[in-house]
Amino acid sequence: MPMTFKEREVQELEEVALREIQTGKSAEDLDRLRVKYLGRKGALTQILRSLSRLAPEDRRRVGNEANRAKESLESALNAALTALKEARRAAPPALDVTLPGRRFPLGRLHPLTRINQEVCDIFLHLGFETVEGPEVELDYYNFEALNIPADHPARDMQDTFYFNDKVLLRTHTSPMQIRVMEMRQPPVRIIAPGRVYRRDSDLTHTPMFHQVEGLLVDKGVTFADLKGVLTAFVHEMFGPEVGLRFRPSYFPFTEPSAEVDIACVICRGEGCRVCKITGWLEILGAGMVHPAVFEAVGYDPETYTGFAFGLGIERIAMLKYGIDDIRLFFDNDLRFLRQF
Ligand code: DAH
Repeated sequence: MPMTFKEREVQELEEVALREIQTGKSAEDLDRLRVKYLGRKGALTQILRSLSRLAPEDRRRVGNEANRAKESLESALNAALTALKEARRAAPPALDVTLPGRRFPLGRLHPLTRINQEVCDIFLHLGFETVEGPEVELDYYNFEALNIPADHPARDMQDTFYFNDKVLLRTHTSPMQIRVMEMRQPPVRIIAPGRVYRRDSDLTHTPMFHQVEGLLVDKGVTFADLKGVLTAFVHEMFGPEVGLRFRPSYFPFTEPSAEVDIACVICRGEGCRVCKITGWLEILGAGMVHPAVFEAVGYDPETYTGFAFGLGIERIAMLKYGIDDIRLFFDNDLRFLRQF
């Protein structure tokens, strides 16, 4: 039986639609075509709707043809969509180099690490070598060899964590003087940074803190050399205009002994709360190595002289950054640490 006019119309519509589907380049194109032909007001849908107006003998043939065309378009659309997705997976969209980059948070050094490095750097440039030693120390090195025998009243200056009679947590970095001199002959020129421990805790004291010890031994070393080195250090650390003074003091392992003050970094010597109206801030202890210390390590005190000093890293950091509570260094609060 020859094709009716209506059947021919369905087939032509299908051909045109299939060709358009072939050229669809995106999911949106395909969607548009689905609506155009199969949507509620789509071309093929219209034909299916109009079947009832046909003569009964045509109705079945055109209906069959239209339903076949509908299935053919649906599967063509689905196939095209799948092909598009596959093509996209095989060749992802080109890298967009104009997208803003992602920032990675940058870590930074702890303020105590920075001050420690700064101090060590200054002495490095003055010719001092950095050495390190144990935090769990023998009573002998921490006290005995430093001219602080058992029952010496100076032991009260440093409340000590003991493991037993002979073993303790070092209360200062001064034992490194002994350890170095035991191993080397003069000239000696070292600094020894590290952690120290004392039974102490308040606004300006923590049970653990950091010191840097210095020691210089040679023939003919005098107090003037000590003053020169420490003056150079203070000017490098706090600025060339900052005044300093040497105050007589007492340490068992030095004679004479001194404490070094700098002009208050807050009020510049006028007198304020931080320097307790004195205009001065104590920053370190120092002195000429005591002959008894040389004898403990087998150096001849008639041949060699030397100076030593010890300073607290936390104290210098507090003065330099204007921090009034030492415990901030150890709370690890990022709001504090990010300021450096
Ligand atoms: N060790 C002392 C302390 O912790 C500081 C000190 C003072 C160290 C005088 C020295 C020195 O080397 O000569 O309090």
